[in-house]
Amino acid sequence: MRRRFDPSGPLRGTLHAPGDKSLSHRAALLGAMCADPVHVTGYLDAADTRSTLDAVRRLGALVEEGAPGTLTIRGPGLRAAAESAIDVGNAGTLMRLLPGWLAGQPAGSWTVDGDDSIRRRPVDRIAAPLELMGARIEARDGRLPPFTVHGAPLTGVEYALPVASAQIKSCVLLAGLLAQGTTAVIEPEPSRDHTERLLARAGVRIAREGSRIEVTAQDELELGSMHVPGDPSSAAFHVAAAVLVRGSRIVITDMNANWTRTGFVRIAERMGAIVVGDLEPVRAGEIPTEEPVCELDVAAGPLVGTVVEAEEVPLAIDELPLVALLGCFAEGETVVRGAAELRVKETDRIAAVVDGLRGLGADIEATPDGFAVRGNGGLRGGTIPSHGDHRLAMLGAVAGLASREGVEVDGMEAAEVSYPTFERDLSTLID
Ligand code: S3P
Repeated sequence: MRRRFDPSGPLRGTLHAPGDKSLSHRAALLGAMCADPVHVTGYLDAADTRSTLDAVRRLGALVEEGAPGTLTIRGPGLRAAAESAIDVGNAGTLMRLLPGWLAGQPAGSWTVDGDDSIRRRPVDRIAAPLELMGARIEARDGRLPPFTVHGAPLTGVEYALPVASAQIKSCVLLAGLLAQGTTAVIEPEPSRDHTERLLARAGVRIAREGSRIEVTAQDELELGSMHVPGDPSSAAFHVAAAVLVRGSRIVITDMNANWTRTGFVRIAERMGAIVVGDLEPVRAGEIPTEEPVCELDVAAGPLVGTVVEAEEVPLAIDELPLVALLGCFAEGETVVRGAAELRVKETDRIAAVVDGLRGLGADIEATPDGFAVRGNGGLRGGTIPSHGDHRLAMLGAVAGLASREGVEVDGMEAAEVSYPTFERDLSTLID
């Protein structure tokens, strides 16, 4: 589906971003792992998070859907997932977290597969720690989907993550709930901590000391009820549009303010965006049981280039394409380093962003682990392909609003994966 986004006048208004995708996946998975029913509000209704509901249903959960975003999940509990083939669709988070739960159930085997993009995404990163714990994972070419998880009695390990990935961290922590002894994960840099917070909320013995997070085996989990706030990664597209289109002023309400998710807002502010909001400050030590929420008030301002280093990358990983876009409008150079992980997202997001923005007139080049953009007075416009990647489709839309001649996005339907109402929401800010 091709969609045209013309240069826009100022964005104005208030918006509630859709439910946080990362938290929605976790709400469904942990909900299914609980002994008692779990009530969820704010659940994201999008292709990725529907895949997670389908998966937990196949594993034996009853999921009742009520008013929009409202669910009751009655799971099979921690140790009784039914055997089934699982189709994760396009959802990398589901593919990487679910095996952590399944690996510790010795009675079963589960085959996991997904779409063409998923079949190119590595799973050896989760197979390695799960095998160290005692499970057996058979993957295509040893590293790609489809793959089969053979459950086994697990033993806790101490695992130093080779990359700062919340998906791998979460997978190992979930496996730790069913492993004998203590399971610890050591992160090279902090990454999103939703799994830790939700496990703490569910009564799990989980602790963090510096970069080390430790869990012990659990009899059962209990969540009761939980609310999923708005997704900062989805809100980021509107934030970027408001930062780029002169005269804009928008407010985002009920947005997740978790500091491990708001790196993009801090980067945009550093570049000159005017952002007011009660973001969570950096938190070390004790794991909170809540996700903080905030209201974000955003206005455009003249931008200057910035450097994003490796430690900031996991805190803004899904928004780095938008940093490239801001860089096109900034004075001087914007550089992102230490972000090789972008190459194994829904697309190779370094190549796709660099090629896509260059096609719109950007002065941008790829590096092995990031990109460098020189601001050259904005973007001309043109056509950008989404390559089936939701975040590229939405990037193209925002680029169009800020461009001189407009942008045509080829493959806009990809936005369905995380933000089906994206175009409608954006139009409420423009009209
Ligand atoms: C996610 C973690 C990130 C992110 C993805 C969602 C999560 O992946 O890119 O969109 O919900 O845990 P990595 O942890 O592999 O970097």
